[in-house]
Amino acid sequence: MATSTSSLLLCFFVALYAGGHAEGKSQASTAGDVYDVTEYGAKTTNRDNKDAFLAAWRAACGGGGNATLLFPNGTFAVGAVEFAGPCRNVGAVVVVIDGVLQPGGCRLSDDAWITFSGVNNLVVTGAGTLDGQGDQSDKWKSKPTTLLLEDVTNSSVRDLRFINSRGFHVNLRHCTHVAATGLHIRAAAESRNTDGIHVGLSAHVRILDSTIGTGDDCVSVGPGSTDVVVDGVVCGPGHGISVGSLGKESEEEADVRGLVVRNCTVAGTTNGVRIKTWPGSPPSRASNITFEDITMAAVANPIIIDQQYCPQGRCAGAGKPSLVQISDVTFSQIQGTSSSRIAVQLLCSEERPCLDVRLVNISLTCGDSPCATEIVHVQAAPPSPAPGPAAPARLVEEQQADQASEILEQLRQ
Ligand SMILES: *[C@@H]1O[C@H](CO)[C@@H](O)[C@H](O)[C@H]1NC(C)=O
Ligand SMILES: *[C@@H]1O[C@H](CO)[C@@H](O)[C@H](O)[C@H]1NC(C)=O
Ligand SMILES: *[C@@H]1O[C@H](CO)[C@@H](O)[C@H](O)[C@H]1NC(C)=O
Ligand SMILES: *[C@@H]1O[C@H](CO)[C@@H](O)[C@H](O)[C@H]1NC(C)=O
Ligand SMILES: *[C@@H]1O[C@H](CO)[C@@H](O)[C@H](O)[C@H]1NC(C)=O
Repeated sequence: MATSTSSLLLCFFVALYAGGHAEGKSQASTAGDVYDVTEYGAKTTNRDNKDAFLAAWRAACGGGGNATLLFPNGTFAVGAVEFAGPCRNVGAVVVVIDGVLQPGGCRLSDDAWITFSGVNNLVVTGAGTLDGQGDQSDKWKSKPTTLLLEDVTNSSVRDLRFINSRGFHVNLRHCTHVAATGLHIRAAAESRNTDGIHVGLSAHVRILDSTIGTGDDCVSVGPGSTDVVVDGVVCGPGHGISVGSLGKESEEEADVRGLVVRNCTVAGTTNGVRIKTWPGSPPSRASNITFEDITMAAVANPIIIDQQYCPQGRCAGAGKPSLVQISDVTFSQIQGTSSSRIAVQLLCSEERPCLDVRLVNISLTCGDSPCATEIVHVQAAPPSPAPGPAAPARLVEEQQADQASEILEQLRQ
């Protein structure tokens, strides 16, 4: 009897407390208390709303339960802003962007425009748009990423629209268990370094069901990426879906291990699926990479490994071989059209020939002429699991020849 009385009292107390607590906030919802930036002073003027946004963030992040940080309808200006954790919340912090965020004339930094850092259980979503206003990108001195997630875990970015970033649209750096889902990303085909989604130094990343067209890679998977799945991405215009670029810095980089790109469409791009490393790059590895079930439409280089990647034609290591060891790469079920005559280019490093590259069910057409392939320094299977020195030239040539004829066979089918 005593037990049931005290639990009854407890329930009553909790109900009262919850009622009182919700009063000061704009509304209560299943996503917890709502912290609307306009209640913290944000206005739809050209003034920088950074202080108001940060005040609302501090309240949401210090809230305790689930919390929603709301950017309602309307166009808000904000300069470089970092929403930093850790948050005290037991539950999730849901950031709902229904309005439009723009830099306007506000101050930006070189690295990123909007940053979330050090947060666990974050959802960034909404019907709104992050507009980097970089549409004439060459006139901007700095190229900040529109949305940087750094040291973020167990989180997702969903359904948002991104337009005209000055640099990358989304960058996932040092993240673990993060998904980007249902995003719409758009920038002019001639805007440089406007990658759609970049992943680096991150593990267990999912990029799903998104439409991306920019002036650079739709998705780029950089050094230190492990277990990344890209599924259901429609890409174009742009430079395709890429691993790399790798080995740009002179220090050794962390490896890329475990990437699956599947069920994607790449249309009207310069490249389809690509692995790129800089000439003279220091040793690192890129392994266990699968591209499967990809449809190409008018792609200039549908399948390409380029270990002499030098986009501006001026590279510190020009002419020197890359020391990035590429191995265990599968291209499977890749169909559609190439806008150039060379549908498959595997241009590997003479110092570190590619190991264990498989081409399975490749069915590409190259206009009226038959497709050609260009294959150098590719070895069908590794002699040992360790990346040893380059195999004897004769062996490499033999296998190249074998593989080239195999591929050509497949392309003719
Ligand atoms: C916000 O704008 C969208 C599209 O313009 C509209 O559908 C929605 O009803 C608006 N929401 C509110 C709360 O005004
Ligand atoms: C927080 O939200 C999640 C789902 O988003 C829900 O499962 C959980 O019960 C909520 N927690 C609280 C304390 O409301
Ligand atoms: C992420 O979630 C997993 C599983 O729920 C949990 O073990 C891990 O501690 C979380 N990461 C952080 C940084 O809280
Ligand atoms: C393939 O991707 C599309 C989006 O382009 C998605 O709607 C579909 O569910 C995906 N199919 C599978 C089998 O995952
Ligand atoms: C290869 O990568 C995939 C995707 O991350 C992973 O599921 C698989 O276990 C990896 N295989 C090996 C042998 O590491």
